[in-house]
Amino acid sequence: MERPIIIEQQDRVVIITLNRPAARNALNSEIMHALAAELAPFDRDPGVGCFVLKGSDKAFAAGADIKEMADKSFSDMFGDDFFAAWDRFASFRTPKIAAVSGYALGGGCELAMMCDIIFAADTAMFGQPEIKLGVMPGMGGSQRLTKLVGKSKAMDMILTGRMMDATEAERCGLVARVVPADKLMDETLAAARTIAGYGKAATMAAREAVDRALEGGLREGLLFERRLFHSLFATADQKEGMTAFIEKRDPKFQGK
Ligand code: CAA
Repeated sequence: MERPIIIEQQDRVVIITLNRPAARNALNSEIMHALAAELAPFDRDPGVGCFVLKGSDKAFAAGADIKEMADKSFSDMFGDDFFAAWDRFASFRTPKIAAVSGYALGGGCELAMMCDIIFAADTAMFGQPEIKLGVMPGMGGSQRLTKLVGKSKAMDMILTGRMMDATEAERCGLVARVVPADKLMDETLAAARTIAGYGKAATMAAREAVDRALEGGLREGLLFERRLFHSLFATADQKEGMTAFIEKRDPKFQGK
């Protein structure tokens, strides 16, 4: 049987490919549990410095699996706390880049937003079309999209269910970079290798602090950032990074 996800490690970068191309990578429970379980050991591994999540050329992911959900009742959804395992993916501490080519719709857009950075091919199309199915975003879209693009644009996307292209997504802050489709993986992997080359304590701390800017109030976020900054002075990588700068040489980070 086909694996729901394919995991490949290149030095300090782990590349995860969603592997249901015929179903446009519709996100069923099998994919959700595989991502949560199979990435956990890599997340804990100090030798892994960045995750890259990708789909196929046609679709990053076309949303949660409608065929799996269609017949479920409220009791089924609530009783199983359906989608709860996505929180495990979102809370991995290793920096994550989504490389989006083609459709990122519904849960697909929400999965991309669970990543720390989104790079998009010029073919990418983003949307939260759940309204067309008589539902609404359920994997974080109402929260994360609103934080990323603001209320007006989020309402536009979520209430009309329309798609936006990569240019619009970059303009409104959903996407960090748009690149030609055939350059997407080169550009993404170059950024992933750069991130993975830094001390993991520093990159984990930095992404947690940036998240706090979205998750809490400014006062709490500033204090959280400052405390994490202080704590990095307990790492050897901080000493090495600053000493290397002063000695005008490249740092050798140990992940400690
Ligand atoms: N769930 C289940 N199956 C899906 C799917 C989904 N989200 N998206 C596509 N598929 C399946 C199709 O049913 C089709 O299967 P068959 O070959 O068995 O007929 C196959 O993938 C190919 O799909 P299309 O023929 O439709 O491919 P296309 O290239 O013409 O269109 C598309 C691609 C525009 C993405 C279109 O498939 C589409 O609109 N998909 C649904 C998008 C959507 O509504 N997403 C939201 C889902 S709900 C959700 O995500 C809730 C949440 O908040 C988490």
